Amino acid sequence: MGNDHLITRLMIKSHQEIDQRLALLEKIIGRDPGLADKSFLELKNLIEKHFLIEEKAIFAFIKKLNQYDGIPNLVNQHNLMLEILNNLENKIFSNQKLGISKLKAIIKPHRKIEEVILYPRLDTELDESQKKFIVEKIKKMIK
Ligand SMILES: [Fe+2]
Ligand SMILES: [Fe+2]
Repeated sequence: MGNDHLITRLMIKSHQEIDQRLALLEKIIGRDPGLADKSFLELKNLIEKHFLIEEKAIFAFIKKLNQYDGIPNLVNQHNLMLEILNNLENKIFSNQKLGISKLKAIIKPHRKIEEVILYPRLDTELDESQKKFIVEKIKKMIK
């Protein structure tokens, strides 16, 4: 397998981490509000970091390389999700109950576009040195 489809594999791994945290948060909400707050803030950090990696290590380069026109839409969805996350954080600040159904509804289709269309296209259409460049940026930012 080696470096085959490495961009897709790295990013799916990151999506899975977010998914696991999201599922954990969903379980905790309602049972232990104090713990849910902590769990939410960890999830928020993870998602913000993930978007930063996508935008700085991947999206920034494929405009030129791949003529893929779905990027503005993906970035809009990132911004929408960041806004939802900020609103949820404000809820914690004002001691209101958290609800994550809106966030979940956007994350799922967004993730699918990246995993099924965007990342496999990068893995098959970019040349080896371009892929290496992106993979190294991802790995550096993921640390
Ligand atoms: Fe994304
Ligand atoms: Fe993503």
